[in-house]
Amino acid sequence: MIKSYDQHVKQLKCNMKTWLVTGCAGFIGSNLIEELLLLGQRVVGVDNFSTGYQHNLDEVKHSVSAEQWQQFSFIEGDICALALCHHACNGVDYVLHQAALGSVPRSISDPIATNENNISGFLNMLVAARDAQVKSFTYASSSAIYGDHPALPKIEETTGIPLSPYAITKYVNELYAGVFAATYGFKSIGLRYFNVFGKRQDPDGAYAAVVPKWTRAMIKGGAVNINGDGETSRDFCFIDNAVQANLLAALAVSEAKDQAYNIAVGDRKTLNELFDTLKKTLAKHGIRYSQQPVYRDFRSGDVRHSQADINKARRLLGYDPKYCVDAGIDKAMTWYLAQKE
Ligand SMILES: NC(=O)c1ccc[n+]([C@@H]2O[C@H](COP(=O)([O-])OP(=O)(O)OC[C@H]3O[C@@H](n4cnc5c(N)ncnc54)[C@H](O)[C@@H]3O)[C@@H](O)[C@H]2O)c1
Repeated sequence: MIKSYDQHVKQLKCNMKTWLVTGCAGFIGSNLIEELLLLGQRVVGVDNFSTGYQHNLDEVKHSVSAEQWQQFSFIEGDICALALCHHACNGVDYVLHQAALGSVPRSISDPIATNENNISGFLNMLVAARDAQVKSFTYASSSAIYGDHPALPKIEETTGIPLSPYAITKYVNELYAGVFAATYGFKSIGLRYFNVFGKRQDPDGAYAAVVPKWTRAMIKGGAVNINGDGETSRDFCFIDNAVQANLLAALAVSEAKDQAYNIAVGDRKTLNELFDTLKKTLAKHGIRYSQQPVYRDFRSGDVRHSQADINKARRLLGYDPKYCVDAGIDKAMTWYLAQKE
């Protein structure tokens, strides 16, 4: 029988295991290590700080107890080096592989770097985890896999042609995962994240995601740019839902493995609606934003609409997202406002 997240959490609390989180100084990785340390787990983290930050690790340190923090060991290094991946996987029970270069536009500007980190790095991690005979290997895939396929909601079996180098890398990850299951019996789980947002997501830089970028701009009274007419829609997924999915995938029964799952809420908001939600949430927190958004050209490589069918993850992993978009934005806003100073 599939266990619920609460049942897994209860068991983990009295059973210390060793987890490897790659990309631990990034947005999703730092939230994973925080949750695992709070659950009394031993955690090894790997990051090369290409898009992650020491301050994310510092924040986790301050949100867990000194005793819990002692269970964290950090390896600064690059997953493009196979020896580092072997070293990191040594003695590990569960791998949560998040390290990659995110962002569709980044991959369009520099497809070679995206390919190296996301495909060669991924393959190194797969080989190292297989050699270390870890109990499970869960990795970050992406909704970008659905490419040009117009069907909504997205179901795992129906994908289209990739629209960017980034999408290709995530597709290749899933192909490699399948081949490793078939040839070595090493079964993993891919999580196709749909626009995850929440605390510690980087608001800065040319490749920042829409939620942190707009929130930061609105708090500072700056301009909000919308690519296209604002009717582009996304299934925005609060970070706590993605963390839950990772732990469930890592601890999943064997029949749930060698598969990829949509990780989202199963709903969608247009960019215009997102703008309104952020405005309303800020007003609730006492900040009035009165500017109109600035509409620009559509961005190449972006899909028009995205919404997940999450029934497969519900059925086989016991995934039960606790946060709808508005509740997630409300929680994330408290964190963004605390960053203001
Ligand atoms: N955030 C989303 O909405 C979203 C959506 C779909 C997929 N994903 C995937 O989820 C994963 C995590 O994304 P994120 O939003 O936390 O991004 P992030 O950029 O905040 O985190 C990625 C981390 O990986 C590290 N990293 C990158 N290349 C590395 C390498 N070669 N060696 C070691 N460390 C390396 C970076 O320094 C960074 O800390 C990525 O694989 C991304 O493609 C994210």
